[in-house]
Amino acid sequence: MYHSKITGLGYYVPDNVVTNDDLSKIMETNDEWIQERTGIKRRRHVNTAEDTTTSMGVKAAEVAIQRAGISKDDIDFVIFATLSPDYYFPGPGVLVQRDLGLKTVGALDVRNQCSGFVYAISIADQYIKTGMYKNILVIGSEVHSRGLDFTTRGRGVSVIFGDGAGAAILSREEDTTKGILSTHLHSEGQYAEELALIAPGMGKRWVLDILKDNDPNDESYYPYMNGQFVFKNAVVRFSEVIMEGLQANNLQVSDIDMLIPHQANLRISQFIQQKFQLTDDQVYNNIMEYGNTTAASIPIALTEAWEQGKIKEGDTVVLAAFGSGFTWASAIIKW
Ligand SMILES: CC(C)(COP(=O)(O)OP(=O)(O)OC[C@H]1O[C@@H](n2cnc3c(N)ncnc32)[C@H](O)[C@@H]1OP(=O)(O)O)[C@@H](O)C(=O)NCCC(=O)NCCS
Repeated sequence: MYHSKITGLGYYVPDNVVTNDDLSKIMETNDEWIQERTGIKRRRHVNTAEDTTTSMGVKAAEVAIQRAGISKDDIDFVIFATLSPDYYFPGPGVLVQRDLGLKTVGALDVRNQCSGFVYAISIADQYIKTGMYKNILVIGSEVHSRGLDFTTRGRGVSVIFGDGAGAAILSREEDTTKGILSTHLHSEGQYAEELALIAPGMGKRWVLDILKDNDPNDESYYPYMNGQFVFKNAVVRFSEVIMEGLQANNLQVSDIDMLIPHQANLRISQFIQQKFQLTDDQVYNNIMEYGNTTAASIPIALTEAWEQGKIKEGDTVVLAAFGSGFTWASAIIKW
């Protein structure tokens, strides 16, 4: 039995910075409201002529591959987490295989929204543990800005989300005291519609129905979020899934060297930090800069924390996520 270890990390965000003041020019909102409720100061939006979900994922992957010290030919499998794929099908995994010029390895797409990256590394971990694959490229990438309602009607959702990509290489590790110790995945589909984008979908409304109606007031094209309900569930599930992971490895809260929470809302991260009595150095947040980048949020934050020397060999690193589905997940890593 092997372990899997993160051997390379990278991220890419578009150059275009959109501040809260920029948003207040196109909808009724203001910097004070956004910062007070979410902690967000600015986020990135793609220049659509330059970037897609896949192209950003590829750029993040190139950095991660180089840092892992492997060649593209060493990659055995691709896992791509996103809720904003370039095409309805095929998913972006195969586009990465093509655009990076990989061998004809398998490419899997994961649709678990804000928990997507943790689900993706959990899958990668299983393939490596069993010995089937040696090096797996895991990507989380999102273009939110093309799909949000930037009128006052959509302000409760559109101010929160930002575009970006993060990537990790998971590699075989022979020392089973190192690497990913365990992952913990959950879902509760009874709340599927509390944070969702309903159309286009084969369930209720497909593209042809939308074209037939062409109703400009139809809100089902835009993500819907019951903000307060999501918030209340998030703080409970984050705490639970972190404790579940620690207990599975006989660890205490005091063993956490670095917690990387999914960047949904700074108030959620601060609540968890306070509940577990962690110091500012033990929790990494960057939502102020990028907003909520969904599947990209954890790999971008993890890469930044690592680049800044905040994660060292031997550290216990905890990843935790909660999002649409509802789904939630954690990963306990010995760096
Ligand atoms: C979305 C969120 C920031 C909203 O904050 P909130 O305190 O719940 O705010 P509410 O939605 O109750 O809105 C309060 C008021 O602000 C208004 N408002 C909403 N968005 C606004 C905006 N962008 N700018 C200004 N005012 C806004 C509302 O219309 C409402 O006005 P009213 O009281 O006159 O009706 C918060 O609920 C949240 O972060 N939830 C969790 C989201 C999350 O984690 N999502 C991702 C999981 S992946």
